[in-house]
Formats: sequence, structure tokens, C-alpha cells
Amino acid sequence: MARVNRSPADGRIPLIAGNWKMNFDHLQAIAFVQKLAWSLKDARHDFGAVEVAVFPPFTDLRSVQTLVAADKLPIVYGAQDVCAHAPGAFTGEIAASFLAQLDCSYVLIGHSERRTFYGETDEVIAAKTAAAIGAGLVPLVCVGETAEDLETHGASAVPVAQLNAVLDAIPKTADFVVAYEPVWAIGSGQPATPEQAQQVASALRATIAARLGDEAAAVTRVLYGGSVKADNIAGFMRQPDVDGALVGGASLDVEGFSAIVRYQKHVGV
Ligand code: 13P
Repeated sequence: MARVNRSPADGRIPLIAGNWKMNFDHLQAIAFVQKLAWSLKDARHDFGAVEVAVFPPFTDLRSVQTLVAADKLPIVYGAQDVCAHAPGAFTGEIAASFLAQLDCSYVLIGHSERRTFYGETDEVIAAKTAAAIGAGLVPLVCVGETAEDLETHGASAVPVAQLNAVLDAIPKTADFVVAYEPVWAIGSGQPATPEQAQQVASALRATIAARLGDEAAAVTRVLYGGSVKADNIAGFMRQPDVDGALVGGASLDVEGFSAIVRYQKHVGV
């Protein structure tokens, strides 16, 4: 499995992750990943300084694996969802062990679209996270409040409760990433402010510290997601508790995504 750029010795290496959602078939995926790798290579991107991950649909993963392995591309990848169960009679589902066999480093779990459109509960999300960890994948657990939650409970209450449900189900030493994605900011063109993102990221990190200890809190990456673009990434990355971004729409354009990955160069963070 591709090594994830994170260990206590490394510190928190920023992660820029592209969630393609249901976009790009396997041929488009190959063309995109090839172009992205060329674009970042041309720009002399330091992949050890900012890790780059893409999250294609399931049907693209084998093609992406073959390309990344053949050309030794320094891009990592993962799936957008996973089944909570071991292989067996679960029609239409994909086991974590299958993703590990495809050299996936990560898997997205609990994206708000899964929570909203497919009724995924905190329990299901916790079980999926445990299954991913059991297979050696690093879960990228998505949390976030709706506009209504924000009004009723403030910004951090719902994301912290969603994270707590996952922390109940995983080993204390587990390696995982948290993505704070306010539902109202996803695909709306209205991102949270960097200060709002920092406030919730800091509350999420404090939750990890309280539940798993200070070292876990110090090494676990917390990303922001929701209408991230090349022209607003810098503000988020300047925040002390924001360690990267989960990018939707803007991850579908090679030049735009590459500019987000290279935020250090063009904005002088
Ligand atoms: P947008 O970047 O399109 O707002 O999507 C964010 C997202 O849902 C990433 O998972």
C-alpha cells in the first residue's frame, strides 16, 4: 500500500485531497491523473511538503492504480465510500479489503452526501471507519453541520458529536484524518471564513486530545472542505489547526486543482 505521508516524526504534512464525487469514468480518470502529475512535475511540486490525493469513483480505481504504479506517480488515492462488513452477501457493496488490494491509501467516510442522500447514520459511519482501519486504510472522516444546525447549535456542536461517534468505535492508536465540511458551504460557492474553519478545526482537535491524548491530537490532520478554490485556499492554510483541504468541484479541473496544491508557491503562505 502506498505510504501515507504522516507520522509523528513528520509532523502534520498538509493534505490536498480531490473528491471527484460521481464524475469521470475510468478513461477520463487516467487522462486526468496523468495531466495532474505532469502539471505538478512541471511546477516542481514537492510532494513531501504537500501530499496530493484523489478520490475517484470505484470503477476508476483499478485504472488509477495501474497508472500510478507503472509511472511511479507520487499521487495517492482512495475510494469515496466503503462497506462496514467483511466480504460476503452484501449485493452492490465494496469491502475495505478490496480497496486495500487496489493500493488505496485512504477512504472517504461519512461525506454529507452519503449522510443526506443515503441515510448514513453516525453508527454506520463509525462501523465503516472501523472496517477501513481494520483493513489498513486511513479513513478520512467527514463531519459538518447544516445551516439549520449552525443556527440552532452553533458551528462546532454537530461536527464534534459526529467525530465523537467515530472515536467511540476505533482503536486509540488508529491513524485517521478528519475533514470539516460545513454542509452549507459544499457546492454553494460560499465557503466558511478561515476563522470559522479554524474555530471548528480547533474544537475537533481538542476533542481528539480529550479522547485519544495530546500526541494523537498533534499528529492527526484536520482538513477544511466546502467551496475551496485556488483563490481562497491560502486563507484556510494559514490557520494553525487546518492541515489541508477536501476539494469537490475545483478538483475536476487540472490547472485549478494543481494551483490549490501549490498554494505555498503562488500565495506565499
Ligand atoms: P465543493 O468543493 O464543490 O464545495 O465540494 C466540497 C466537498 O464536498 C468535498 O468533499
